[in-house]
Amino acid sequence: MELTPEIKDKLDKLQEKYAAMGQDMSAYLDGLLYADFLTYWDYIHLDTLLSLQSPKTPFPDEEIFIMYHQITELYFKLTLHECAQIAQHQNLTAKFFTERVKRINAYFSALVSSFEVMVNGMERDQFLKFRMSLLPASGFQSGQYRMIEICATDFIRLVDKSKRDELQSASIEAQFEHIYWKFGATELASGKQTLTLKQFINKYADQFLKLVKDRQYTNFSALYHKLEEEGQDVTQLATELRKLDLHVNVEWPLSHYKSAVRYLERDPIDIAATGGTNWQKYLPPRFQKRIFYPFLWTEEQIAEWGKGWVMEALNKSNFT
Ligand code: HEM
Repeated sequence: MELTPEIKDKLDKLQEKYAAMGQDMSAYLDGLLYADFLTYWDYIHLDTLLSLQSPKTPFPDEEIFIMYHQITELYFKLTLHECAQIAQHQNLTAKFFTERVKRINAYFSALVSSFEVMVNGMERDQFLKFRMSLLPASGFQSGQYRMIEICATDFIRLVDKSKRDELQSASIEAQFEHIYWKFGATELASGKQTLTLKQFINKYADQFLKLVKDRQYTNFSALYHKLEEEGQDVTQLATELRKLDLHVNVEWPLSHYKSAVRYLERDPIDIAATGGTNWQKYLPPRFQKRIFYPFLWTEEQIAEWGKGWVMEALNKSNFT
């Protein structure tokens, strides 16, 4: 092949690049010469990915359950990837922030619509059997889900609502003692934590506390206020954050709740959840009223959180 001026120019640039680092370009050219061509399957570690499904029982539908959890965790990872880009940006603008929150909304939109894979995608009888082999594991123990919440809002918003006023100025450690999900998995009569909760805290508490401290001034709520104070136009950002609030705190919980109803509801007694929560009281958004951005909603919308208006709001053009 002819060494055209373009190729010579590229070689000169490469030479400069390696020389600047005290490296020998010709050794790197040898590397190129001997390296294998990249394949699709190696690049995305396909064989590893497809080897990560290890059912505990012979019921075929258990694989669906495992894979859909894994798909969801990958979407959570995509979300956290965007959260980090926003929080670590050296010169954050409302435009960048808005674009990244739009991406997160696209991920959650996919998660909400695909939850049907769980709701009607497994045989109930198989589910009720294989779930007994999974005790006391529960999706409740999704660390990434909790990290998304920490990145999205001021930590005090995640404190149980009965303790929020009292702990407004308390240390992060004191607030963490009263994070809302600890109450979900505590036996009311004895006050004892479920095993699901104990194991979850043992594994993740340090990581959560570190993340809360790292995001104290760079969670989405704090960053929104900062940009607003700087005089940036935050109108579009507010729309995307409202959508995010609905995705994470209403729509996803509602699609998820539908699956709990399909598999666990049984007259007159509900089948116990694997994580031991009173799921009928714990999962529906209207009871928890988790809201990341109360300053972006009207009092009426907050009062009606998790009820019909949300779906209406979503159908309006400014929410689609
Ligand atoms: C048939 C499907 C499912 C059923 C019946 C179900 C049921 C439940 C129940 C009853 C809880 C309450 C905690 C407990 O006591 O265990 C829970 C919590 C949770 N599950 Fe699922 N789940 C299903 C699928 C999923 C999937 C696919 C994910 C994806 C990661 C997931 C993630 C979560 C999370 C993050 C929580 C905590 C929610 C919160 O704190 O508000 N679940 N699930």
